[in-house]
Amino acid sequence: MFDTIDKETDFIGVFDSGVGGISVLKCLAARLPKEDFLFYGDSANAPYGEKSEEQVQKLSLSLADRLLERGAKAIVIACNTATSAAAETIRARYPDIVVVGVEPAVKPAAMELSNGKVLVMATPMTLEREKYRLLASRFDEQASLIPLACPGLAARIEKGDLEGEDLKQMLEGFLRPYAGSVDGVVLGCTHYPFIRKQIAAILGDVPMFDGAEGTARELERRLKGEGLLTKRKKSGRIIFDSSRKEKEELALYERFYALPS
Ligand code: DGL
Repeated sequence: MFDTIDKETDFIGVFDSGVGGISVLKCLAARLPKEDFLFYGDSANAPYGEKSEEQVQKLSLSLADRLLERGAKAIVIACNTATSAAAETIRARYPDIVVVGVEPAVKPAAMELSNGKVLVMATPMTLEREKYRLLASRFDEQASLIPLACPGLAARIEKGDLEGEDLKQMLEGFLRPYAGSVDGVVLGCTHYPFIRKQIAAILGDVPMFDGAEGTARELERRLKGEGLLTKRKKSGRIIFDSSRKEKEELALYERFYALPS
């Protein structure tokens, strides 16, 4: 399945710790429908958000190495956690490669909900890093940002069943204290757009913001700027690969690709 793409160089490598990045991939493919994408989920090592920064840097670098060895023309880090811990390191190793990351969509949320209360859900690592503090400090006068680390949530989504009672209970624990008191939510982990419905069941029909659209726009801008947009006329392909080699894993990725996010 992957041999076909290994011999090519006209594709974009996209990675995440697991299924979450598929919410970004969908947006990339919708914006750039002629491009080929190779999505690599590091599900054998998920979740990233509760590991050490060094571990996430090491794992992310080796995923970027692997995608570039296969011939990727650009890399998308479809993970807020890996972007905050490793984007600079990857860019330093590959200064001539287009490397685009994703960050919590604090800016669009603060613009749209000026003076409102915005819950920022993300992994513990994303919220602890300096990169988030800097981002939040640019917008915290515009809106009141409430960071909410959700340990265990990405790992639970990674299991695939999104209707389970245990997931509901976990979300109750994280979100119930904010029900009725926030004006919007930033989904600051790429796994979370798959559970919008479950979040809305607790917080109500509040606007939710994620970084996928911004990442897709930035990728298009960078590829255009570098003259790297594909010249192909036909529709591009989406190919999945995973560090968890069971074939059920790829079936799970394909199922997530078909889910609303
Ligand atoms: N999907 C990732 C993110 O956007 C990380 C989830 C995890 O592995 O902890 O942060």
